Amino acid sequence: QPAAEKYRPEFHFTPKAHWMNDPNGMVYDNGVYHLFYQYYPNGLTWGPMHWGHATTRDFFNWQEQPIALYPDSLGMIFSGSIVLDKNNTAGFGANAMVAIFTHHNQKIEEAKTGRHQYQSIAYSTDQGATWTKYKGNPVLPNPGITDFRDPKVMWYEPEKKWIMTLATKDRITFYSSADLKSWKRESDFGSDLGAHGGVWECPDLFPLQYRGKTIWVLLVSINPGGPNGGSATQYFTGSFDGHQFIPMSKTQKWLDYGADNYAGVTWSNTGDRKIFIGWMNNWQYANVVPTKTWRGATTLPRNLTIDNVKGEFLVRAMPVKELIPFWKAVYTKPTVSIGRELNLSSAIAKLNGKLKLDFTLSHAQSFKIAFTNKTGNKLFVGYNKADNSYFIDRTAAGVADFEPGFAKKHAAPRLTDKKLIKISVILDAASVELFADDGLTVMTDVFFPETGLSGLTISSEAVKLNNLSVSKPLNADRKY
Ligand code: FRU
Repeated sequence: QPAAEKYRPEFHFTPKAHWMNDPNGMVYDNGVYHLFYQYYPNGLTWGPMHWGHATTRDFFNWQEQPIALYPDSLGMIFSGSIVLDKNNTAGFGANAMVAIFTHHNQKIEEAKTGRHQYQSIAYSTDQGATWTKYKGNPVLPNPGITDFRDPKVMWYEPEKKWIMTLATKDRITFYSSADLKSWKRESDFGSDLGAHGGVWECPDLFPLQYRGKTIWVLLVSINPGGPNGGSATQYFTGSFDGHQFIPMSKTQKWLDYGADNYAGVTWSNTGDRKIFIGWMNNWQYANVVPTKTWRGATTLPRNLTIDNVKGEFLVRAMPVKELIPFWKAVYTKPTVSIGRELNLSSAIAKLNGKLKLDFTLSHAQSFKIAFTNKTGNKLFVGYNKADNSYFIDRTAAGVADFEPGFAKKHAAPRLTDKKLIKISVILDAASVELFADDGLTVMTDVFFPETGLSGLTISSEAVKLNNLSVSKPLNADRKY
């Protein structure tokens, strides 16, 4: 592997070269899942934003496509969404893809009027291959709000209209439209509740079904102010009537407690199913992580479902089922006693740190998984019974000198009282994703081991592991 490719993930999307941040405009169309993303094609740090484009049919093999949207006289192309306009409401053609995004105008920004972000649209009538910007842009001018961005648009069937969920500084503003071109302000949400450690960005609003009942979920990314520092994504559950979102509680929940899942939203046009992907990074250090050819990756695509836990509606996030055939078990044990420490190093020695580890713990006892390498790097993942929390500890997991706050232990609450603890840990070249209790508690962290991970031990007092398996990923067919 060439040195410049060190840390290239096997089964997470990365652009062949240069900088990426937020996923944008994800839309499903005719067997293809499209991913657009904040992209700077001339450098390894954030710069004038374009929309990069990639596609997948299976969420494992990704194909990079030509850049979809370039900056223009109205500004750079910031985050946004794409809808399939089945009924030709906008007049660009039946089934046209319509992108709704923020134009960020640097000249106006320099003039400090606070009106440098506004919403514009573009359309594609060839399945996302080429894009035309609408001549009447912007479609939603700035009313005088400095942070006025990241439109996520959905179709609201009961009133046959589009709803735009927009981040407006310290709150969310909902707009509606019949044609994607003229927008009416409906209501505001959130200035007096939720987490406010930083500006609100990249929202998403969608319904999920729970036993025949519709629960609306509102995702809101914030930067900084995350539970483990820097950027993170909070969510609220509630109701939505086409005009207003009413939350069930004033306190936010966190979609992911790790440090590295930001600005994620869901695919459009997937019916009742909601598939989420995030940017696997944190603004605290995103510009300085030690990759050499590209910078930035996406999280694993996750299926979101709703559950009722102790009377509260919570979102579960699990890797999409499409990924299952891409894992091959290399070690399985129906049941095994840890007896202080179980050494599984021989099972992972050849996997070069790319693996999935699954097990169920017979009862909720503290445990600690250690992934190690020959260089002395150690990554710990586990559960601490005393404070009922899961953790990922990357303090000594590899290169960390690029940012003082990077080498840390991150914690997350366990949200269920179930006796069994179910764990899935997925490692790629430079990331770890922990799905605990079937996705009730999720943590995503990046880390940069100096050499491949070759040691694995699980330690705990007096517990049995059931359905233990170590799996390796197939080789991805990556196309640029
Ligand atoms: C979130 C964000 C968005 C913005 C984009 C710019 O990471 O700050 O609010 O549209 O990145 O690249």
